[in-house]
Order: sequence, then structure tokens, then C-alpha cells
Amino acid sequence: MSEKATLEINGQKYDFPIVNGSENEKAINISSLRAVTGGITTLDPGFKNTGSCQSAITFLDGEKGILRYRGYSIEELAEKADFLEVAFLLIFGDLPTEEQLLKFHKDIKDNSIVDDDIRKILDAFPKSAHPMGVLSSLTSALTAFNPTSVNIDSEEDMYNSVVKILGKLPVLVAWTMRKKQGLPLDYGDNSLGYVENVLKMMFKQPNQDYVQNPILVNALNKLLILHADHEQNCSTSTVRIVGSSHAGLFASISSGISALWGPLHGGANQAVLEMLEAIKEDGGDTKKYMAKAKDKSDPFRLMGFGHRVYKNFDPRAKIIKVAADEVLNDLGVEDPILDIAKSLEKEALADPYFVQRKLYPNVDFYSGIIYRAMGIPVDMFTVMFALGRLPGWIGQWQEMRLRKEPIGRPRQIYNGQTSRSFKA
Ligand code: ACO
Repeated sequence: MSEKATLEINGQKYDFPIVNGSENEKAINISSLRAVTGGITTLDPGFKNTGSCQSAITFLDGEKGILRYRGYSIEELAEKADFLEVAFLLIFGDLPTEEQLLKFHKDIKDNSIVDDDIRKILDAFPKSAHPMGVLSSLTSALTAFNPTSVNIDSEEDMYNSVVKILGKLPVLVAWTMRKKQGLPLDYGDNSLGYVENVLKMMFKQPNQDYVQNPILVNALNKLLILHADHEQNCSTSTVRIVGSSHAGLFASISSGISALWGPLHGGANQAVLEMLEAIKEDGGDTKKYMAKAKDKSDPFRLMGFGHRVYKNFDPRAKIIKVAADEVLNDLGVEDPILDIAKSLEKEALADPYFVQRKLYPNVDFYSGIIYRAMGIPVDMFTVMFALGRLPGWIGQWQEMRLRKEPIGRPRQIYNGQTSRSFKA
């Protein structure tokens, strides 16, 4: 017998089927609610209890601190996989064979050239522009230079769009950073792996050869994998909902980048570093900032703490904390910011306010520390997050398209003025 939930409204009972996920998650399917009740809907601001779709890509259990991509644990992937293998896994459902991976990488490299006219658009931005705004705009502009990317019913055009965006986004990321630094813009090096190529495009100085540092390659590979997908978060939901209108892949990804920008989401990694800097400038008194975070009349929040779904610990934070220590040790970096971060973490984990609310350090508490050690400017941190999240956005967009999901269109409860007349 299939399970059901019964809802009683003013003595009238309505049955709704219960949907079971493959990890025993349960959801009440209320898609017929309005029709059977004559107009009653649900209200769930922030979608804290609303599943927007069924998805076979990422499983996470916020209580147990589990994160898996297509069934593989994040711990195992971060330890053993290459970012591009993870990208293939997220987008196509299984890990690639050696042959599939070679072809995938070749297709990405063959499609990595960004039209030179995009430089003119980049030139028009002021140097002060935030890189996330620039990246979102340039990503959107890619549609104009690749018009077939909107043919969402063509499997061939969609595959080409996938490899194009995977090839071109790293170029746009590097250009966005280099433009601000007054460095010449260049293309990648097709003889390199995906991650090595990203590093070279970002950091190569015009008067020197670029020497790869395996510690940095390994750290960036891990960071990109850890950020690659996180089921229906704000930016991914944005990508799916924009795509549900049958907008093309690049427009949908551009919207995801905008959604990621905010400090409550991807922008938290920048906000964490700015917060740590501010605490350092203010004398390094972490207790003062702990008190501010707990004071309800003070808008200050401890950036990098808390998570909408992880209410025990963020498994990505555990992995990245170890990686941060490795990178800093290997590079011989001694950073007072790190000491402040460690004090804050220790104090928060022992403080009843944080313990009771289950506020633990999230992945972004540590990622900024690694990016800083790598020499990446603070305002580029969220751009690095976007680069990592790209395969997840693509996989989720593709799933939405192949499952022919309906256009996303939430309901509301109107609580404004009732009917009134215009002035006579
Ligand atoms: N510092 C101090 N108090 C906090 C913090 C924090 N970082 N986060 C949550 N709280 C408190 C809230 O004030 C609230 O207290 P109350 O119950 O007394 O009113 C309680 O904890 C619950 O907080 P909510 O905002 O309801 O939790 P929600 O799940 O909506 O928000 C969020 C999660 C946005 C991540 C929040 O914890 C936050 O703002 N953290 C700081 C920003 C951050 O690090 N964002 C990165 C998220 S991870 C990512 O996007 C990859």
C-alpha cells in the first residue's frame, strides 16, 4: 500500500501521496492541493520545507553531515578524483572511462576560445567593478557570440554548449582578474590539465614562464570539487528556474552567478576574509566579535558560520580545514588572520549560543584562507566558487531540461490593498 498524508481543512479531509526518495527521504506531494481544495495553497518563505524537484544528482543529509555526488562520498571524491572527472559525473551521471574523459577534455579545450570582441565588453567595465558582476555579464554575453546555445531541444547543440561553457568560463575568470590587475589577457594552454590551465591563465606573468606548484594544483582541485554541487541551493535553484523558461544554458548560468554573489551564499567566502581583516585591524579581540554576533540588536553575524541545511557539521569544512593546514604549511605561510580564524572557531564551538543553534563553520570559513595563500584577491573568491559550482549548475540544468520540468512559478498569498478606485 502506498503511503499517504491526510490534511483536514474545516472538517473536510484530503489525501496526498507520499513520495519516497532513494535515501528514504519522504515528501508529501501537494501538487493537486489547489485543485482539490478550490484554491488553498502552501506558504513556505525561503522554501525551508519545500522540495522544488526530484533529482538524482546530489544527496545531502544535513543532520548527519553527509554529502554525495551521484552516490560517491565527497570525502572519496576530494581525495581521489580530478575536477573534470567530477564534472563529467555530475553532468552525465557516471564517472567517465579513460576514453570518455580524454574526449570530454579535448572537446572542452577545442571550445575554449572566447571571441576577441568580448574583450571590448570587458574594457567597458570600470576597474572598480566587482568581478562577480563582470563574470555574470560576460557569461550572459556569450549567448550573443554562440547563438545555437539557446537550441535547448537539440542534443548536439546542448552538448556543445556544455563543453563551451566549461572551456570558456575559466578564460573569463582569468580575464576578469587580470584586467583589474592591468595584466595582458591571454588564452589557456591546451597541453595542460584543466586545473593547471586555470592557474596558469590566472597567474602567468608576461615576462616569466609559469611554473606549476603541485600543492596549489591539488588544493584548487579539491576546492573546486568540494564546491561542485550542493543540490537545490539558492544559485542552483536559480539556474533551474531560469532554465525552466527554456532560456539557454549561458543565460541560466549567468543568473546562477548573480545569485551566488550575495554574502549569505557564495559571497560568504569574501565576507569571511573581510571580517577576519576587520577583527585584526581592530586589535584582534575575537571575544568582542563573538559578543556582537550574539547581540540581537547588532546586525553583525559571524560570517562562515551556520548553514541552511547542515545542522551538525559541514563535511566540506572538515576536508577543507585539513587542506588549508597543508597549503599553509607547505607554502610556509604564517598568517595572523589564520590565528584569528582558529580562535573564533574554538570560541564558537564552545559557546552555548552557537551550540544551541547548531552553528558550525561552513566550507567558506576555510576556503578564503586557502585562496588568500594562493595569491587570489579577496574579491575573486566568489568567482572561484562559481568556477567550482559550474558543473553542478550544468548537471542540474540538464536534468531539469531532460525531465521536461514545467516552468517554475511559485504562488503567493496577497496581503496588499484590496480593490480601490483611481482618483476621480
Ligand atoms: N552568526 C550569528 N548568529 C547566527 C548566524 C551567524 N553566522 N547564523 C545564524 N544565526 C542565528 C540567527 O540569528 C538565528 O537566531 P535566532 O533563532 O535567535 O533568531 C538562528 O541562528 C537561525 O538563523 P537563520 O538565519 O534562521 O538560519 P538560516 O538557515 O535561515 O540561515 C545562513 C543560514 C544564511 C547561512 C546563516 O547561518 C548566515 O547568515 N550565516 C553567515 C553567512 C554565511 O556564512 N553564509 C554561507 C552559507 S554556505 C554557502 O553558501 C556555501
